Amino acid sequence: MKKAMLALTALALLATSAQARTWDEIKKSGTIKIATEGAFPPFNVLEGKKLTGFEVDLAEALAKELGLKVDWTTQPFDNLLIGLNQDRYDFVIASHGITPQRAKAVDFSNPHYCTGGAIVAKPSGPMMAADLAGKSVAVQVGTTYLENVRKVPGVGDIKTFPKDTDAQAALMSGRVDAWVGDKFTGIDLVKAQKGKVKQGALLFKESIAMAVKKGNSSLLKELNSALDKSQNNGTYAKISNGYFGEDIRCRN
Ligand code: ARG
Repeated sequence: MKKAMLALTALALLATSAQARTWDEIKKSGTIKIATEGAFPPFNVLEGKKLTGFEVDLAEALAKELGLKVDWTTQPFDNLLIGLNQDRYDFVIASHGITPQRAKAVDFSNPHYCTGGAIVAKPSGPMMAADLAGKSVAVQVGTTYLENVRKVPGVGDIKTFPKDTDAQAALMSGRVDAWVGDKFTGIDLVKAQKGKVKQGALLFKESIAMAVKKGNSSLLKELNSALDKSQNNGTYAKISNGYFGEDIRCRN
């Protein structure tokens, strides 16, 4: 019994003391390992075997700028930062909003876009935060949408889904009164549903960034400089315009 416990402790120590690959190690290998979810259109989507989306194209452009090939991994959203801390990949790009809680577990790059969480409902449904009182709301689990919907005074039942697209489906099938999700995703949902649903108020704003393992400052520096370059040489604007018809970088 005691032995087994000791072995477990040793494993845990090994797992936490493993080193993330530094920039030099990544550069030498020639390939950077990136993780995303692949179920969050139009940011990261797995279509058959092909990953696409704004963040996928952007990450590919950054890797190209850094002279690296890309090895992609897809993981359920809720597992992404855990896998990062287990050194299963070098960084994560999956629309993570920078929050104080997440910043305790990982290090964030400069933001690669700015957005917010917005309400979508049937045209007769809740459109403002105050309208959510007593209403049921669908959100993806582990997200800032969940965190912020919980803060709405008097909000009714909050239903969580492993995938954001399933939370949207719950709205469309009438299982909930509203869905709260990314404002750009919401715009696409309204278009695709041809007026069956409508976008309401923005509940909160957030800055979205890539995550590296805590302390991996050499990689963070390279990612930030590649992002900077892409924003100065037109690459970023071109990718963003292709998906959104506008440049969604953060501006203050
Ligand atoms: N922006 C939200 C957050 O920070 C949602 C991100 C969801 N991303 C995804 N790939 N499903 O939590």
